[in-house]
Amino acid sequence: MIKLEEKKEVEMIAISKSQPKKETKTIIKLENLSKKFGDFYAVNNINLEVFAGETIGLVGPNGAGKTTTIKMIAKLLRPSSGRILIENLQGELQNLSSNSKNIVRRGFLIDVPFFYKDMTANQLLKYFGKSQNYPRDKINERIDELLELFNLSDWKHKKVKTFSKGMRQKLGIIQSILVDPQIVVLDEPQTGLDPKARIEIRKFIRELQNQGKSIFVASHMLHEISEVCDKIALINHGKIIAFDTIENLEKGLKTKEIDCKLLDPIPPENRESLIRKLYEKLEMYLEKDFDPDISKIPIKYDSDKKTIIFYYNGKKRARAEILEILITEFKSDFSVVSFSRPKTSRLERIYSEMIKDERPKITSNNRR
Ligand SMILES: Nc1ncnc2c1ncn2[C@@H]1O[C@H](COP(=O)(O)OP(=O)(O)OP(=O)(O)O)[C@@H](O)[C@H]1O
Ligand SMILES: [Mg+2]
Repeated sequence: MIKLEEKKEVEMIAISKSQPKKETKTIIKLENLSKKFGDFYAVNNINLEVFAGETIGLVGPNGAGKTTTIKMIAKLLRPSSGRILIENLQGELQNLSSNSKNIVRRGFLIDVPFFYKDMTANQLLKYFGKSQNYPRDKINERIDELLELFNLSDWKHKKVKTFSKGMRQKLGIIQSILVDPQIVVLDEPQTGLDPKARIEIRKFIRELQNQGKSIFVASHMLHEISEVCDKIALINHGKIIAFDTIENLEKGLKTKEIDCKLLDPIPPENRESLIRKLYEKLEMYLEKDFDPDISKIPIKYDSDKKTIIFYYNGKKRARAEILEILITEFKSDFSVVSFSRPKTSRLERIYSEMIKDERPKITSNNRR
């Protein structure tokens, strides 16, 4: 962790080179943060620092403590111990528990958004904007702009109770950014959304990133997260078990993976013999100590994706050799369309390996 003096220096260098200040200024800091329900620690001594303009993905299994953490940042739950520091209007870190009006604007989408269902979308957003002191002369324009962005313009004057789950979710997202907050916190924003809407949400998060917002997003959808986040915080049993970029987290992975997409599927009757042949030819480049939970041998065929997955020893040279052998020696068996290390499955691997290693620790403190 960077000491205060060093950090100032880093900031000064960043300013003097007139580079963006991304990764230099802390906007949210969680310090030894815990939340207990009875004897049970839902959040257990979390430390986390978010820099201005960063997008952080909070990833973990059901019950890991994601929503509880977010609710504490939203001041919907009071921490049992520890502190939440957020940047204030003077540009300093300030304890959230004292005078939160002086803290930069934050917008939240938490769990299932709660709405006054008898109100129309317009009434609800206007009411919310007013409660957050958004300038009255600009609110109508802002509402129209956001409804348009989420394809809800036709529903502006319809009652929220007539909305589908996905539409309500979109309305919740609109509400979270209505007053143009500096920090946007989204808990499972893709819940209930169809694939097209999920793509829209990703685009929308990128747009927020371009505007320099700091974003905190909890999700199980590793694909969505890996596409948009700068860093991932893996949480399990209320503890942060890893916090870094996907690239850095991957360095700790036991298994490295390459996906080889084929032009045509391998006919079912040839699969077994072909995989055996691949294994014989490529064994020296493949992962020796392979996790049998994933597959018996370090080669797997995904028929849906027409992809052969190789779990290899992680050496660059090995990648080149594998590709060469596939193209030359397996020319008559299949044609390779692409050969890549996809980010999504890298995050899936990181997730499953780290979560698996982190067995529940039952102590007198966190027994329920
Ligand atoms: N009000 C509460 N009273 C008691 N226990 C609670 C309460 N809220 C949450 N918990 C417990 O705290 C733990 C963490 O819950 P939390 O909702 O933060 O998990 P999560 O990571 O958001 O999970 P999910 O992915 O299912 O949304 C769970 O074991 C949950 O049962
Ligand atoms: Mg949750």
